[in-house]
Amino acid sequence: MAKITFVPDNATHECEDGMPLIDFCEDIEVSLKFGCTEGTCGVCELTVVEGRKNLSSITEEEREYLYEEDLKGGMRLGCQIKIKRGHSSITWKGTRAK
Ligand code: FES
Repeated sequence: MAKITFVPDNATHECEDGMPLIDFCEDIEVSLKFGCTEGTCGVCELTVVEGRKNLSSITEEEREYLYEEDLKGGMRLGCQIKIKRGHSSITWKGTRAK
């Protein structure tokens, strides 16, 4: 089982290895939003805080949408990520209203 922490929601969930993040987010209550689901709108933009190696590799879509320096800083498009293994931690700008 992989484990992922959603920092803005202060929540950690376990999921099956290899699960697409977007599918997993449909199953749980999380404030991360998705739009196009194809890597072209940027709605799902997030930053990987921990465990970059535990997530799938950067896709062509992400290389086209995001700047190289942002990719190096851990920025990703959530709709392109698979949760591969171990523990990872992600954060994003939009947070749940309190
Ligand atoms: S949902 Fe549009 S880029 Fe991910």
